[in-house]
Formats: sequence, C-alpha cells, structure tokens
Amino acid sequence: MFLISGPASRELGERVAKFLGVNVHPVEHRFFPDGESYIRVNLPLQDKHVIIIQTTTPNPDQKLMQLFMIAKTVKDYGAKKITAVVPYLSYSRQDKRFLEGEALTLDVVFNLLDASNVDNLIVFDSHNPDSLKTIEEKHNINVYELSAIPLLAKYFESKSYQGAFSLSPDKGAIRLAKIASDLLKGGYGYFEKVRDRKTGQITMIVKDFDVIGKKAIVFDDIISTGGTMAQAVAGLKSQGATKVGVSCTHALFMSGAEERIMNAGADYIIASDSVETAYSKVTIAESIAQKILELV
Ligand code: R5P
Repeated sequence: MFLISGPASRELGERVAKFLGVNVHPVEHRFFPDGESYIRVNLPLQDKHVIIIQTTTPNPDQKLMQLFMIAKTVKDYGAKKITAVVPYLSYSRQDKRFLEGEALTLDVVFNLLDASNVDNLIVFDSHNPDSLKTIEEKHNINVYELSAIPLLAKYFESKSYQGAFSLSPDKGAIRLAKIASDLLKGGYGYFEKVRDRKTGQITMIVKDFDVIGKKAIVFDDIISTGGTMAQAVAGLKSQGATKVGVSCTHALFMSGAEERIMNAGADYIIASDSVETAYSKVTIAESIAQKILELV
C-alpha cells in the first residue's frame, strides 16, 4: 500500500497514516500564476495499491481536478490499484435533472473518476445513497459509503445529550436521524423542506415535535450556507427545546454559515474532519483506516 494525501486532506492523511502505522506521502503542490494546479507525486508506485486521500471542498472544481490529476499520474507510474478516499464528494447533490437541460453532475464526476482509473471510491454520508448506487452500476468503480453520524452522535452523548431528540432537516436524510437515535435513544423525526428549484430558496415546515423541555440535535450530511440548519434550529427553539445541537459530516460553511446557525439559537455545532474546520471535533480517520485494511 502507498498512501498519498492531496492538497485538500493533508491533516486527515496524517491521521489515517497513524492508524495504519504507515507513512503518508503528501503530493507536491503549487499554483501557477493563472490558477492552474501543479501536482507531483512521490515514486516508485509500480505495482502498488495506491490510496489517495483528497476531499473536494473548498473550491470543488479545483479540488476535483487535483484528484483527477493525482489518480491519472499514479496510474501512469504503474499503480496496480487505485483507491480514492473522497470524504466529501462534491457535485453529489445534482444527482438528477430537476429542470430540463441541467447537467447531471454526479454522473460527470463519476465519468472523470473512471477515466482517471480509480478502482475503489470511499465516501462519507453521500447526499443520496440510492443515486450513488445507481451511478456505481453505470461505472467501473466500487463505491464504499461510510458514515460519520455514529461518531458525531457519540460526541454529543459525551456532552450530556444522551436522550436528545434526533432530527434530519428533510425526509431524504431521515436515515441520519435514525442512526443517531439508535445511540442517543431519544427518538427521531424530520422536517419537511421545500426548495424552489429556480431560486434555490428553501422553506422548512416545522411540524409538532415533542421537544418541550428536551434537548434536540439536527443531523445533516452537509451544511453549506447554514440556511437549512438555521431554520431548523429556530423551529425547535420556538417549540420549546431547551438546547439545540447542530451536526454535520461535511462542514462547507460558506458565507457566514456558523453565525447564521448560532444567531438562530443553536447551542452547539460540531462536524467531522471530512472538511477541516474549527468545528471538526470528530475524526473519521479510524473508519477510513479500517476500510482501507479491508481493501488491501
Ligand atoms: C440538501 O439536501 C443537503 O442535505 C443539505 O441540507 C443542504 O445542502 C444544506 O444547505 P444549506 O446549508 O445551504 O442550507
């Protein structure tokens, strides 16, 4: 095995290497004046199973391009197998055509991973596991989806959130609330979320949750602008929840997301280190290391 970290996952790469007891080889990376990435990988790679760790945010186009460049180069140098660990796989949310003429970006990304000779793909908490399965069947890539939700729930448990009500911000993510509730034992539910497909504007319908005098935690795969979470938090507080925790696997945290969520009344925000932020209190490194050991 030969472990490589891309520019987006240096720290995570080190953590995974520690669990595996191997060295990690960060790629050499810089930018050309026009913004193009320069990438150079460590050698030799002949006949090695190469593991590439590279999340794909911030700046998803650039981080994906770097991933494709690393994978193709590794193949050029004779790697016998390539496993890409991409905790946050950007462009996964456009997994169907909501409006005629839209680009099906999840499919585009898979075409490019395929063309870059990726054999295995490890991702965390994808936007829609069913779409991921459908796309996997169309490509020569074995996909392994892992979840950070049990780790996040465990963290909340250690902060006295045992018995908290677990929620997902929409029905599609109800599985996340259920996983958390299996551990926290406080029951689970979901919000109704309606998105205007033209403007992207979302509206959350607050249902009657039994949260009066209780703690509640909202679990989501992604926090981007924080708009979804802010509405969820405000809804729970208005219904009498004493404390509201907010948790996600992929903390994209665009344009003041944290402030938006805290201003809505959240008491706690935590995320995994799928994306490195000040809120990354939980590491997915051990889960990645275990999956790698199964694959090599
Ligand atoms: C969408 O369905 C995702 O699961 C998230 O709920 C969404 O992407 C969060 O976006 P934002 O933080 O911008 O509301």
